[in-house]
Amino acid sequence: MQLTHLSLTEFRNFSRLDVDVPGGSVLFVGHNAQGKTSLLESIYYLAVFSSFQASHDRQLVNFLAEPKPVAVAKIIAQFTRSTPSPESRQAYHTNRLSGFNLKGSHNLEVRIILQPNQDRYKPRVRKEILLDGVKCKTSEAIGSFNAVLFLPHMMRIVEGPPEERRRYLNLLMVQTIPHYARVLTDYNRSLVQRNALLKQLAERGGDKNQLGYWDELLASSGAQIIFQRIHTVQALERLASNVHNELTRSKEVLRLDYTPSFDPIPNKPGQYNLPLDAPLDRTWLTLENIQMGFVERLEKLRNEEIIRGVTTIGPHRDEIRLLSNGIDLGNFGSRGQGRTAVMALKLAEVSWMKESSGEWPILLLDEVLAELDPERRNDLLSRLSNFEQVMTTTTDLNAFTPEFIASTTIWHIHDGQLSEG
Ligand SMILES: Nc1ncnc2c1ncn2[C@@H]1O[C@H](COP(=O)(O)OP(=O)(O)O)[C@@H](O)[C@H]1O
Ligand SMILES: [Mg+2]
Repeated sequence: MQLTHLSLTEFRNFSRLDVDVPGGSVLFVGHNAQGKTSLLESIYYLAVFSSFQASHDRQLVNFLAEPKPVAVAKIIAQFTRSTPSPESRQAYHTNRLSGFNLKGSHNLEVRIILQPNQDRYKPRVRKEILLDGVKCKTSEAIGSFNAVLFLPHMMRIVEGPPEERRRYLNLLMVQTIPHYARVLTDYNRSLVQRNALLKQLAERGGDKNQLGYWDELLASSGAQIIFQRIHTVQALERLASNVHNELTRSKEVLRLDYTPSFDPIPNKPGQYNLPLDAPLDRTWLTLENIQMGFVERLEKLRNEEIIRGVTTIGPHRDEIRLLSNGIDLGNFGSRGQGRTAVMALKLAEVSWMKESSGEWPILLLDEVLAELDPERRNDLLSRLSNFEQVMTTTTDLNAFTPEFIASTTIWHIHDGQLSEG
């Protein structure tokens, strides 16, 4: 897919931006604090409808924007996906509100609206999404615009807590799997309610059978998440290990080991003796297997969970370990190995999106080149030409090869303004 036009209004330090965006590679060059990251942030927002760096949407609205009576930040994108087939055009019009399987040229608009509040430092925030001019929910618009983001601190995927790896998977999966975003929301809602009930039962007692309803709900959405994660991790592993093999000149084998917190395959004695580089195959499990097993485990754990007052198993505690030649990179890998693994994962993410939707996502790279050694840098730069649209930011043009500079559109960015050059 390709972003063809971007318009920003009062988004961060962009009071107003209106540009036609070319395909291929675009390099944004500018000093610090000019708006490079904010520009990529606005584009990635269209893919997942949340910011990769703000903890709250209100931070996205230009703080100099006049509230008249509300301040509104707008991101408007015109984008194209491959030419529609007559059937998909028909399907799109009859079953209109789904971002998935869109073809042709479309318009996506996000409005972040700040409404005055009594506490003037905490205005109320409302978000509106319009796909082709029609207001819709996040879960309806998601999937229409695909992007992959690459940031220097993404080493956290390897080194950070399991939450970082779940986040990495979720951001990819909401864009490629219809309904995954909704299922995640359902799961988190059920989890909050179930935890509240567990706590209440622990503190005040009551009928434990009330949990049955929440067990069913949690297991229904939870099983879908586990099922999808099993298959996505398998596909990603295939793609990432290929790239990784090339990046390490065949010296290392990358494996992704998904360990669901509720594991539908019960631990058997001896299973722990498996070599570390042989993650278990769970792809034969059906959704029903997983769901039934999940409910049964929750029932078995009921008394223990009431005492602890929290849900102790489920996708909110899943882990995905990265193994290189059988070694857990999170615990034992070097920084260089970690960087290579993240690069392989990111490039695999791009390929996975292309495989699953038929469209290349837009690749967004925020000052990642500076982090890489010359060999990795060249590895990455040489691959960028394979993608349909890549946007890279830098403070330093010298980090790029002459071949890359010759093949890219260069835009200078200064104080929230773009100029070609
Ligand atoms: N809500 C906002 N309104 C106005 N300016 C903002 C807002 N949020 C951040 N900024 C400012 O925008 C500028 C650009 O930030 P950033 O995009 O991170 O720059 P770069 O990536 O080029 O270093 C910074 O000076 C930052 O303080
Ligand atoms: Mg920046």
